[in-house]
Amino acid sequence: SIVQKRSVSCRTAPNIALIKYWGKRNDELIIPENSSYSITLSEDDLCTHTTISMSPEYKCDTFYYENVKQKEIPKRMQHLLDEIRRRTSKRKLDNDHFSYLNWSVEIHSHNTFPSSSGLASSASAYSSIAIGLSTLFEDTEDGTITPTCSYLARIGSGSAIRSLYGGFVQWYHKDPALSECMYPAEQWPELRIVILVFNSKTKPISSTDAMKRTTQTSSLYKERLKTIDEKIEQLNLAIKKRDFENFSNIVMRDSNQFHAVCMDTYPPVMYLNDQSKHFIQLVHEYNNASKITKVAYTFDAGPNPFCFILQQHLDEFLDLIKYFYPAQTQHRFHDQIKTMKLNRIP
Ligand code: PMV
Repeated sequence: SIVQKRSVSCRTAPNIALIKYWGKRNDELIIPENSSYSITLSEDDLCTHTTISMSPEYKCDTFYYENVKQKEIPKRMQHLLDEIRRRTSKRKLDNDHFSYLNWSVEIHSHNTFPSSSGLASSASAYSSIAIGLSTLFEDTEDGTITPTCSYLARIGSGSAIRSLYGGFVQWYHKDPALSECMYPAEQWPELRIVILVFNSKTKPISSTDAMKRTTQTSSLYKERLKTIDEKIEQLNLAIKKRDFENFSNIVMRDSNQFHAVCMDTYPPVMYLNDQSKHFIQLVHEYNNASKITKVAYTFDAGPNPFCFILQQHLDEFLDLIKYFYPAQTQHRFHDQIKTMKLNRIP
């Protein structure tokens, strides 16, 4: 007999927040308290590959991570499946031939970057599952970002909504269903990213729990919210003008403010470690000695810096890194991203 099967494959890349999303106005619908802005990495270098298939032959929904069948579907993934089926059944109510609503699915997810790379994989994982599910259930053409797709990415992991697009991306708090590419990656071809991995362990507290604690206890956080829209406007302008000085200033200050807000949370949330702080000092001393800003750093919810630097200063900066952090264990290079894994400072 003919085996009925529908399947789709897609891939998306992680993103690095330049202006951080922190705090939810609504925990269930993942409505952010503030707009955020990020850069999506190159898919050619780092990405999550997802293949989703559905068939009446499958007995139940299953999830394979790195080719290993998981005992159960993660809670958030189940939530996405429930949601796409609920929406599809509503939409197809008056259609006759709609059988595949009760077919089970198989989700295969694979990352081309190690979980020890210092990058959160949830954004690329959920954006790619969202695209896969909406393509399958909504019968859209490959790569179409529908409102359902955006919604699924967002409820998977808030920041995943930004990985639906490449380049420089904004997610709007006044319209939480909307994220959009402000500039493609080609806007700034000289911009390079270096990731230093100081610690590859998973974070001590989930971002969801930490955000909740921050919104409930930090007064500094309320001050931060007032300044975000203006900061995003300035950042967007700096990117438009390829003004590295202003770009760096805004990005580093936002990272520092975000971690200050984490420290102002009670009990405090600490993502930076001694190496992170040492590195922050080093960058400022280096920029100072250079008389221009050559490097900018930013830290998401972890101790590993993402550095921005223009191509013409890259080699010098890498020499500096090798000097201060000789214990480098991994070194990857690509046109758009350079990753270096480092274990200790001398
Ligand atoms: O997407 P979540 O819920 O894991 O939150 C991401 C939070 C930060 O990475 C710290 C900031 C951001 O905008 O990505």
